[in-house]
Parts: sequence; structure tokens; C-alpha cells
Amino acid sequence: MLVAENLIKNYTDLRVVNGVSLQVPRGEIVSVTGPSGAGKSTLLHLLGALDKPDSGRVLIDGTDVFTLSARRQAAFRNKHIGFVFQFHHLLPEFSAVENVAVPLWIAGQGRKQALDNAAAMLQIVGLGQRLDNKPSELSGGEQQRVAIARALVNKPSIVMADEPTGNLDSANAKAIHELFIELRNRLNQTFIMITHNDELAAMTDRIVMMKDGKVV
Ligand SMILES: Nc1ncnc2c1ncn2[C@@H]1O[C@H](COP(=O)(O)OP(=O)(O)O)[C@@H](O)[C@H]1O
Ligand SMILES: [Mg+2]
Repeated sequence: MLVAENLIKNYTDLRVVNGVSLQVPRGEIVSVTGPSGAGKSTLLHLLGALDKPDSGRVLIDGTDVFTLSARRQAAFRNKHIGFVFQFHHLLPEFSAVENVAVPLWIAGQGRKQALDNAAAMLQIVGLGQRLDNKPSELSGGEQQRVAIARALVNKPSIVMADEPTGNLDSANAKAIHELFIELRNRLNQTFIMITHNDELAAMTDRIVMMKDGKVV
């Protein structure tokens, strides 16, 4: 599903990602761990084509993402990659179902169909009863489930998550990790997830540990 070859990223004279290669097959849940400043977020941004490496390649579903024009790359991200961040970045004026429908609208789906698909995805993440609530009316764990539904709604090849449970209490964090595993089992969804929580990392299929910009 994902192949990264010898990724290098420098910020001025600091080499933040130092020759990382990685392969992730479909349906695998990979966690990325390591100390703060190890380059985990930078690596995830490269893998998700949110940022460009100084050298190296990323292939997702066979597409060499950095050879695409900026416009095609944005369209590729919308269709093939779902992102979940530590802070949910939901739109406060939109209801849960509208927030989840946004990537579908961007992809050109009609309003009614997008809302139906968004509602179905909220059902899958266990929020079928909270479709019309605004983010401020939801708990932290529920807000993060909405963000996960939004990441999944376009049926992406891969979901990339940067400390998705870093802002949640331990019970909600465990529930989100269990949801990822359930989504993998049900939809064969592929995940790459950065986490600081060793117990939660141990629930995933593989742990990639980073230090000083390298996989160790
Ligand atoms: N935009 C940037 N400009 C300059 N340095 C950066 C930038 N983003 C990250 N860094 C530096 O790169 C290193 C790795 O950061 P990051 O990938 O966020 O690490 P992690 O997610 O593992 O904590 C840190 O030393 C950080 O200060
Ligand atoms: Mg980080």
C-alpha cells in the first residue's frame, strides 16, 4: 500500500529525517514511536505528501506522489489519504455529519449523497445518534471519532494519524485504538499512527521506533 524509499528532509542545516525507508502492506496498523524531536511528525508529513522531502520517494497504491503537480497531489490526498491529528480541527459551525461530509463535497459529491455517506460513516464509528450535534456539544472522545470518520469517509488507501489520542484520557484513548483495530478488521483499512503510549502501540501490528531522524 505504501512504499517509502530513503527519505531525507533537512530544515536549514538540521537533518530531521535521515534516510527512512518503510513498506506498509494493506490492512496493517503500524505505530511510530520515539522521543520528542525524533522526526516522527516530519516523517508522517512526508508520507502523506503534506510536505516534500529533499530526496527519496513515496509510492501510495503505486502512485509516485511527488511526481504529481500540486493540483493533482491535492486531489490525490483527498481521495487516497485520511489524516487525523492530535487536535481534531473540526469546523465549529458545522454539525458532526456536515464535518464528515466536507471531504466528499471537495471530491465533488452531491449534497444529499455526501450527507448520507457521512451519516453511514458516523454510524460505523459509533456516533449514529449524534449526527446533528456541533463539535462543542460533543465530548473530546466523540470529537475525535468525528475526525476519524472524516478521515475515513473517502475510503482512503491509508489513514495517517499524529498522536490521535494524545489529548484524550486513557479510557477514551484505548477506545480509539480499539476502533482502529475494528476498522482494520472490518474494512481492511491501513493505518500509520504516531503515539507516545507504549501500551497502545503494543496493540498494533508493528512498532517502528525513530530516533534522530532514523528508524532504529
Ligand atoms: N518547520 C520546521 N522548521 C524547522 N525545524 C523544524 C520544523 N519542523 C520540525 N522541525 C524540527 O525537526 C525536528 C523533528 O521534529 P518533529 O518531526 O516534529 O519531531 P517529533 O514529531 O518526533 O516530536 C525537531 O528538532 C524540530 O524542532
Ligand atoms: Mg510530533
